[in-house]
Amino acid sequence: MKRLDHRVQFDFIRYANCWEDADILREALNPAPGKRILSVASGGDNSFALLADGAEVVATDMSAPQVACVEIKAAAIRKLDHGEVLSFLGVRPSKNRLAVYELVKSDISKASRDYWDRNQNSITGGIIHAGKFENYFRLFRTCILPLIHSRRKVARLLEPRVKSDRHDFYNSVWNNLRWRLLFRVFFGRFVMGRLGRDPEFFRHVEGSVSDRILQRTRHALTELPTDQNPYLDYILNGNFTRCLPPYLEAERFDRLRDSLERLTICREPVEKAALIHRGRGFDGFNLSDIFEYLDAGTCSTIYGELLGAARPGARLAYWNMLVPRSCPREFNDRVTPLADISGELLQRDRAFFYTAFVVEEVKH
Ligand SMILES: C[S@@+](CC[C@H](N)C(=O)[O-])C[C@H]1O[C@@H](n2cnc3c(N)ncnc32)[C@H](O)[C@@H]1O
Repeated sequence: MKRLDHRVQFDFIRYANCWEDADILREALNPAPGKRILSVASGGDNSFALLADGAEVVATDMSAPQVACVEIKAAAIRKLDHGEVLSFLGVRPSKNRLAVYELVKSDISKASRDYWDRNQNSITGGIIHAGKFENYFRLFRTCILPLIHSRRKVARLLEPRVKSDRHDFYNSVWNNLRWRLLFRVFFGRFVMGRLGRDPEFFRHVEGSVSDRILQRTRHALTELPTDQNPYLDYILNGNFTRCLPPYLEAERFDRLRDSLERLTICREPVEKAALIHRGRGFDGFNLSDIFEYLDAGTCSTIYGELLGAARPGARLAYWNMLVPRSCPREFNDRVTPLADISGELLQRDRAFFYTAFVVEEVKH
């Protein structure tokens, strides 16, 4: 089996934001001062959130553009005030992002600077809108959603409501035939594989993709408050218009800036970063959903390498969108699955496309 980075292109930004709920991750890993966490970087957001809670974070990604994304966000947070960061990244409008880039670029590595120098249009358009996955959501919002519901109905979906009213709204207004039909096509394996993720990411998936995602979407639109969900906000409005992802929240901003000295960013597969930056070991691992792209044998190898860098009591947290991955059998005697916590946090997962959130603890 070839490694993922040999099967999939990594020469562009796939995820300008982290499409995994930072709040359930924070609850799973308890990122307090004194703790060391190894975090798959993606857009960087969740690594920043863990950092702002007080942990030391090693954020790694094997994709150079993803690392460029994390570095430019870190540089902006270091050099700009909160409002300026929101404008520079694309949450708020701005006409002078390239001028601001000139101010922050001295803080990023040469490789990342070269990436941004070659991709200035992504800076002009706002970095948080620059990924393939964000573009996929833009296509949904501009081409598909208008065929299903009017803007007024979308706004109504996002109004504050109690749970029973959210169920009523979903059943009587939102869940029409076009919603179910077009959702299934757009969020099915074929379209999502080509326009959103990569067909390779579904290599190990069995059964219908869209049915499971539709079920989870229904959960997010009924069981969870729709007016406090930044992921839903971005998908339906094309930006964080009502609430921000945790790393961008104003009340956390000063703490985040002061924490940046505890952040190490590297461009390595996570298992290699674990080896290089092992130090006194890690207390937590944010593993995104890396295991579901890999065959079971490769998962076991990587899992074992991560365990080699884990301190007693360390937690591993990761999502499964569609492939059921968990602690490989050969490590069962070293790891306790925290099934209750996993199940409870999944119920609150606001980035609702995942069918499992796995939390496991290394035995003492
Ligand atoms: C695993 S992807 C998942 C994103 C999103 N949850 C999804 O399902 O589409 C998130 C990030 O992980 C990175 N990645 C994948 N496997 C990795 C590995 N073994 N080590 C480090 N980074 C990895 C990718 O480059 C990407 O930026």
